[in-house]
Parts: sequence; structure tokens; C-alpha cells
Amino acid sequence: MDVGDQLIDTTAWFGRDAPRILEIGCGTGTATAAMAKAEPHVNLMAVEVYRPGLAQLLAQIERDNITNIRVLRGDAVEVLENMVAPSSLTGVRVFFPDPWPKARHHKRRLLQPETFALIASRLVPGGVLHVATDHADYAEWIAEYGNAEPALTALDWESPMTHERPVTKFEDKAHRAGSAINEFIWGRIKS
Ligand SMILES: C[S@@+](CC[C@H](N)C(=O)[O-])C[C@H]1O[C@@H](n2cnc3c(N)ncnc32)[C@H](O)[C@@H]1O
Repeated sequence: MDVGDQLIDTTAWFGRDAPRILEIGCGTGTATAAMAKAEPHVNLMAVEVYRPGLAQLLAQIERDNITNIRVLRGDAVEVLENMVAPSSLTGVRVFFPDPWPKARHHKRRLLQPETFALIASRLVPGGVLHVATDHADYAEWIAEYGNAEPALTALDWESPMTHERPVTKFEDKAHRAGSAINEFIWGRIKS
């Protein structure tokens, strides 16, 4: 589906009602496909601007007969703002977002304070935000703004979403470059 301004009817799109997880910036979707197979009980939506990456994911979905992934092409912020209802997602995953290392480009980073607030508003109470980065400076930024978002808190309850993360394609490169991986898991406060 291309990004638009209509709320997604996930029950119709997936043909079933199940916990909804949104993965932002799935790249070529290697981890997306692995997670979908490990979590057959969830409806997994993957959003990506990079068309060739989505093409690879679609090919893998077909090859492996994966039935619980749907893909969106376009900007994840627009998806969250216009296509996802408030308090509707069981989880949001952001694995290795582009770090935009130069200070003058920091405003291009996906995980701005407003994006944390937007993500939190789309999570169900108790829903989970799972973020990973290999970039030390972005990790500090993510920790600062994620911890400052009043609707998010350190997760200390069980959720229906796995926090196991397969190595993503991008992470594989980061490992080879010797970069440390930082991982963050927040929950939307329940009341
Ligand atoms: C560094 S790659 C990581 C890809 C994948 N998660 C992985 O770990 O292999 C970041 C991805 O986020 C995508 N991206 C960046 N901004 C986005 C946005 N606003 N909406 C959707 N995707 C975005 C980029 O196109 C890119 O494929």
C-alpha cells in the first residue's frame, strides 16, 4: 500500500484481528520476515521509503509463504499521523534508523521528541517501543528524548510482542565494523 491519508482497516487488510506491530524503516526486510515467522500470532506492518528494499521483502514473503506481513511505501511519520488510529498498536519497532551524524542534519533524525510522542500516542496502553542503533551519538539522543517522553516508561511487564531481535541486514555491517549496538525498550504507561 502507498502511504495516504486514510486510516488503515487492519482487520480487512490482514483478514483477521490480531495484535498490530509497526516496523519503521524495514530496509530489505530480512529481520521483518524472520520476526513474522517467529510471531505468527501478530499482524506485522512494515513501512519503508526505499522501494528496492520493499521489493526484496515482497519477494521473500512470496518465497516463504509468509501471510502476516503487509507493507507500506512512504514516510513512517505520515503513516503514524494519518493511517494509524490512536491507541491501536501493540508494538513499534525502529531498528537502525539513519543516524544523520552531522549536527546540521540532526533535525532529519526520525526519532525527534515529537516522533516519540506520536509513537506513544499510537501504542495501546502497555504497548512497546523497541529501538536499536549502532551509532553512539544517536543512542545518547534516543535515550535522552525517549526517557523524556512522559507517556513512555521502562518496561517492567509482559507484552505479547517478542523482544528478541534477529540480526538485521544493517546490523550485520555494523558488527563487522566493530560498532556497539544499543537497544531500548519502552512501554506506554498503562493509565
Ligand atoms: C539504516 S537503514 C536500516 C534498515 C533495516 N532496519 C536494517 O536494520 O537492516 C534505515 C532505513 O530507514 C528507512 N527510513 C528512513 N526514514 C524513513 C521514514 N521516515 N519512513 C520510512 N522509512 C524510513 C531508510 O530508507 C532505510 O532503509
